[in-house]
Amino acid sequence: MKLLEQRILEDGVMEGEDVLKVDSFLNHQMDVGLFAEMGKEWARLFADDHVTKILTIEASGIGIACVVAQQFGVPVLFAKKNKTKNIAGEVYSAQVESFTHGRVYDIIVSKKFLGPGDRVLLIDDFLANGAALQGLIKLVRDSGATLVGAGIAVEKAFQPGGDLIRSMGVRVESLARIKAMSSKGITFCD
Ligand code: G4P
Repeated sequence: MKLLEQRILEDGVMEGEDVLKVDSFLNHQMDVGLFAEMGKEWARLFADDHVTKILTIEASGIGIACVVAQQFGVPVLFAKKNKTKNIAGEVYSAQVESFTHGRVYDIIVSKKFLGPGDRVLLIDDFLANGAALQGLIKLVRDSGATLVGAGIAVEKAFQPGGDLIRSMGVRVESLARIKAMSSKGITFCD
């Protein structure tokens, strides 16, 4: 999506060789006009998939997912990073091992809000190593819902997450796919 690629080139800030800061428009301050355009693009790409629910993960995915869900006219559910003890049986849970942050955490969603009747589109801001997305996929599969695919704002295609998730048979639609980042600049996949 040219609009997002252009914005990354204008306002993205590289941190080292592999971290892209997009704090000014995507995951701290948020440009909801841009999110609406992203939502329209995913609504076009997944138009025939009868999406009934958007699923994301706290925190940065929530803002994008809310605007996207408006385009689809469906609710948003976000997986919580578990801090409190939950009564077994009430939630679907998965363990996420984040390489980026060097930690392991559980994510949960209530069984009340996800089930076999749902057709789920996953939305997240970044795809790097794919740990968060793998956790979300497990939640969907455990619930018996149908996974229609994943919409990612920024895929760092030089990291293994995209290939990993696609090799699991999941359709991944990333609006900006970064091929390489260096002091010379950012290049996108064709
Ligand atoms: P991982 O396996 O390395 O942990 O990669 P994953 O794709 O699961 O992404 C892990 C977290 O790191 C995500 O945030 C993702 O948004 C963030 N992230 C990865 N690469 C970048 C990057 O280049 N720039 C920025 N800004 N974020 C990146 P999270 O753990 O879910 O936390 P939150 O930020 O959503 O609260």
